[in-house]
Amino acid sequence: MVDSAGTRVLPLELDRRYPVIVRGQGVWVEDADGRRYLDAMSGGSMAATLGHGRTDIIEAARAQADRLSYVHNERLTNPAQERLARELVEVAPEGFTRARFVASGSDANEMAVQLARSYHVERGEADRWQVISPAQAYHGPTMETLALTGRPGLQGPFGPYLPHHLHIPPSTWRFDPTGQAALDALDEALEEAGPGTVSAFFCEPISAAALPAYTPPPRFWEGLAERRERHGFLVLFDEVVTGVGRTGRWFAGAGTECAPDIIATAKGLGAGYVAIGALLVREHVYEAVARGSRHFTLGHTWDGSPLACAVGLAVLDAMRSEDLVERVRDRGARLLKELDAALGGIPMVREVRGHGYLLGVSFVDPRDSDSLLPRELRVGARIDEAAFERGLIVLSTQPTRDGYAGDQTLFAPPFTTTDDELAEMVSRFADTVRHVAEGVDRELAAHPATTGAER
Ligand SMILES: Cc1ncc(COP(=O)(O)O)c(C=O)c1O
Repeated sequence: MVDSAGTRVLPLELDRRYPVIVRGQGVWVEDADGRRYLDAMSGGSMAATLGHGRTDIIEAARAQADRLSYVHNERLTNPAQERLARELVEVAPEGFTRARFVASGSDANEMAVQLARSYHVERGEADRWQVISPAQAYHGPTMETLALTGRPGLQGPFGPYLPHHLHIPPSTWRFDPTGQAALDALDEALEEAGPGTVSAFFCEPISAAALPAYTPPPRFWEGLAERRERHGFLVLFDEVVTGVGRTGRWFAGAGTECAPDIIATAKGLGAGYVAIGALLVREHVYEAVARGSRHFTLGHTWDGSPLACAVGLAVLDAMRSEDLVERVRDRGARLLKELDAALGGIPMVREVRGHGYLLGVSFVDPRDSDSLLPRELRVGARIDEAAFERGLIVLSTQPTRDGYAGDQTLFAPPFTTTDDELAEMVSRFADTVRHVAEGVDRELAAHPATTGAER
């Protein structure tokens, strides 16, 4: 374990002790003391979708680096970038015809906002710039992506730097089970902005860390599509996590009642072997640039690099040759049932959700099965600690202070996890949650005055 006194790294949390992971093989990682952990979070961030130590991907990277590791895409292109763009649009939802490569999810999200704005300017609607998005979301740590979430708790001291965007509450069971309240909020936001100034609606089709595995009800998506038709904004999907197979489809956006105009994706495209993201563009958006200035030029040094794109190609190869999208779709449906059954009868567990291998568990106060748990109980953090003691890596969050969600855990294994390994992950996780729930019950009984957070 490394703590802030024993490192020259500027850690994310100075009071946290960080385990040192020295190697990984398949869905197992090993720390410096030789302890092994089942990685039910695909490398912690859901990026390592194919597990660790894949020789096919390492070999593809090595072969590309031997030939040509790097050239910049501003004045040069390379075969790996060209082929990856072709292969990615082949698996993208219908109508997507172009791809631009970037180096991270935040880059892809920022570029999606820039492209939406460019689309309107190219078409002579320069007043359109505002972006409306759900408040309970995570889109990255850069200024624009932080602004795209409506969570002051996450934005911290950076508020003064963030552009002002309009937000709507999530239509979860707590706030809006039908999706109508979110649509009403969207109408209000459109009214407040003036619909002619709105460039885009920006969201995750299925949430990752902010509301694990949650997607709004169909009514919301239908209403969003109607409003796009009426008001002329674009719909942008953050598929940084959900893209490239995570939810049992190549892209989760293909499963909603509202087809997006631009998709931003990242993590699974590099599968944890390189930093790569992509913007996928529907033909009509591309056409606006093609008929207009014919320029969409901003980018980063590593965008479209041969090395990163060669890994992206090897990832797509593996996904296709091992039928991993189908595996995640079919096995994910059973995994959800298994997780749900294993957590059955624990009053603190309010909901077990899932799409493919993106599963989420939300916890509530067991005294009324409804309120968010008191923050001081640190249930999310205790789940992660107890899981780690049991040799399991999961990721929990506690965004209570923003009021839209409480303690919740993400469970997102690599697509290559075997049935036995999935069973072991579920069993260790159920043991973890039972252990923490017992402690929480005891503490609430000993201190009945502990108050629940806001409903
Ligand atoms: C849904 C979502 N969008 C965007 C991002 C930001 O991606 P990156 O960390 O690659 O910039 C993340 C990262 O966790 C994410 O989960």
